[in-house]
Amino acid sequence: MSRIAYVDGRYVPHNRAAVSIDDRGYQFADGVYEVIAVAGGRLVDGPRHLERLHRSLKELRIGWTMTDAALLAILTELVRRNSVVDGSVYFQISRGVARRDHAFPAKASPVLVATAKRMDFAQVAKRQEGGIAVVTAPDIRWGRCDIKSISLLPNILAKQAAREQGAYEAILVDERGFVTEGSSANAWIVDRDGNLVTRTASNEILNGITRLALMDRAAERQIRIVERPFTVDELKAAREAFITSTTSFVMPIVSVDGQKLGDGKPGPVALTLIAAYRDQMNM
Ligand code: PDD
Repeated sequence: MSRIAYVDGRYVPHNRAAVSIDDRGYQFADGVYEVIAVAGGRLVDGPRHLERLHRSLKELRIGWTMTDAALLAILTELVRRNSVVDGSVYFQISRGVARRDHAFPAKASPVLVATAKRMDFAQVAKRQEGGIAVVTAPDIRWGRCDIKSISLLPNILAKQAAREQGAYEAILVDERGFVTEGSSANAWIVDRDGNLVTRTASNEILNGITRLALMDRAAERQIRIVERPFTVDELKAAREAFITSTTSFVMPIVSVDGQKLGDGKPGPVALTLIAAYRDQMNM
């Protein structure tokens, strides 16, 4: 079955979908995006993703006028047309098409592009069982990591460095030796006192929707959460660690920079939260 994409008002075959070479997303990475998981054909945490989308658009002053209902209808239709049961939808909104000039164009209509893809949740579950290796890397990003911008060069360079070292994810570290987040996920530890620790949401990290959902699930289970920065040394000495994202869900970390974390297996808190998040997704 051929994949279908949505580009600026039309559903088109994925392999023939295209944008203008003057699209500011293409030229300046002047746009924002979201990735929403699809489980059983339904969008997971849609309202929270849309809330964050609006925040990103507002921070970049992109004049987006489509209603959420219309946007959701497009995404749902895309899921249906691609027969995605389990997977994700990706969508980005650029500032629009205009003759190249760094300053905002006087008149440009934002361009929406959306794609859908299937994901094998059993494969994610298998990875969760074994856990992942991570490596640390300096966080060389800008001062507005809270905006889900399509400008991701530092993230992809860090991810590639991780993959070249045989690791699944790069854990980014600020100049003071504190973990910010992963290259495409939030980072968590269970510290020596048994607290679940993740960095406070600020301009230095993306406030993950999975992160927010997990906070709810942890609170329901009386797991103590502390939002504070933690160091790389703390990560390496942690009882447990994991990352969270729309596409990795809750993914246990079992080694950091080639050094085994804990006993090298996913820990009890991670396993509890994996199950809790699965329940929420109705998997
Ligand atoms: N990335 N931090 C960064 C830098 C991310 O890119 C992501 C997600 C997250 C987790 O956010 P959420 O829980 O809302 O997915 C944190 C997506 C999945 C991506 O770029 O593909």
